[in-house]
Amino acid sequence: MKGVKVNEVNGEYQVTDDLEKPAPDSNQLLVKPIFGAVNPVDELMRNSGILVTSWPWTPCCDVAGIVVEVGSEATKFKVGDQVFGCQGVGFPGSGGAAEYCLFRDDIALKKSDHISLAEAATMGVGSQTAALGLWSGLNIALPDPQNLPAISDEWVLVLGGGGSVGGYAVQLSKLSGYRVVASVSARSVGAAFTHGADETVDYKTPVDEQIAKIKKITKGKLHRIIDTTAYNANFVKKVLEEIKDDAGEKYFASVNDWEDFGPLPGGAKFYPISLGPLARPESKELNEILFKYIDVLQAFVDVGKVKPGEYSLVGGTGFESFIEAVKVQSGGSAKKVVAKLQEE
Ligand SMILES: NC(=O)c1ccc[n+]([C@@H]2O[C@H](COP(=O)([O-])OP(=O)(O)OC[C@H]3O[C@@H](n4cnc5c(N)ncnc54)[C@H](OP(=O)(O)O)[C@@H]3O)[C@@H](O)[C@H]2O)c1
Repeated sequence: MKGVKVNEVNGEYQVTDDLEKPAPDSNQLLVKPIFGAVNPVDELMRNSGILVTSWPWTPCCDVAGIVVEVGSEATKFKVGDQVFGCQGVGFPGSGGAAEYCLFRDDIALKKSDHISLAEAATMGVGSQTAALGLWSGLNIALPDPQNLPAISDEWVLVLGGGGSVGGYAVQLSKLSGYRVVASVSARSVGAAFTHGADETVDYKTPVDEQIAKIKKITKGKLHRIIDTTAYNANFVKKVLEEIKDDAGEKYFASVNDWEDFGPLPGGAKFYPISLGPLARPESKELNEILFKYIDVLQAFVDVGKVKPGEYSLVGGTGFESFIEAVKVQSGGSAKKVVAKLQEE
C-alpha cells in the first residue's frame, strides 16, 4: 500500500507504495486515514528511533478516518464510521500516514457531527495526554460529564497552556472543577483564554516575577502543576519550593517521562506522563485507563465541551503533504499542523 516511510534512524521521509497493508486483530479496526496531524513525537521517533519496534517506520499518530474493516470481537464501531484519536506509535500498522492503519476498537473516538474530520485529527494525542496527566497524575477526580463538579477555589498551573497538550489540560482542568493559571508566551495568551484559563503568566518574563504572580493569583490554593512543555522541571521546583509550606499534598505531572527529577520540594508527588506505549498488547494497564478516559472525553467532545484548537492545513491531498506538514510543525507553528492524506 501507499504511504510514508523512513527506513532507518535519522533516515529521510519518503512516499512509497511498498508498505505492508495491516490486518486487524480481533479487537482492532482497519481505518482509512483521511487527515493526519503532526506531533513533536514524529520527529523525535525519526531522529532517535525511540518507540520504533521495526523499520521501515511510518509516522503520524493523530488520525481521523473511516473504518473499513472490523475485527471479530470489536463491538464499538462498524464499517463506515468516522473515527479519530491517537492509535499508538511505532509498531507495524500504527502509522497513520498510509492508506490504512490500525486502531484499537476500545481506544478510538467517534467523530461528532459538529466537528470536521480535519479538526478531529488534531484532538487525539493532546487530549489523551492531558487526560493522563490530570486524572492519573494530579489526583484530580474523573468528572461525570452528566453532573459536572462546581468550580472550587483550587488551582492547576498548566505550563504550556496555549499548546496542544496544554490546551486540553486547561479545558479538562476546568471541566474537573479547578481554576487554571496557564503559563504561555504572548502569542498563545488568546489560545489559553479560549481554552478556559482564568489567568495567564508570561514565561518569558523573569522567573521571580512569574512566581510572585502565580502566588498572588493562587493564594495558597495551588497543589497541582502540569508541565506540557517537557523542559520546565527547574521552574516547577522553584514554584514548589515557594509553596512547600502551604497545607496539603502537592502533585507534579510532566510530559517529560525520561528524566529523573529526584526528590521534589515539600515531597511533591511526581507523575511522568507516558502515552507512547498506548495500544500495544503489553500495555494492558495503560490501555484500560485510556479506555475509561476515552468514554469521558467522547462525552465532552459530543456536547462541545472539549473543543479542538486552531489548526493549519498544509499542502494538497496526498501523503507528500504529511512530510511538508512535519517541516511546518518543526519550524515552530503555534497551531496544530494537519495534512489531508487521501480522499474519503
Ligand atoms: N510523554 C508523552 O506521553 C507525551 C505525549 C504528547 C506530547 N508529549 C510532548 O509534549 C510536548 C508538547 O507537545 P504539544 O503537542 O502540546 O506541543 P505544542 O502544541 O507545540 O505546544 C508546546 C507549547 O510549549 C510552550 N512553551 C515552550 N516553552 C515554554 C516555556 N518555557 N514555558 C511555558 N510554555 C512553553 C509553547 O508555548 P507558546 O506558544 O506560548 O510559546 C507551546 O504552546 C512535546 O515535547 C511532546 O513531545 C509527550
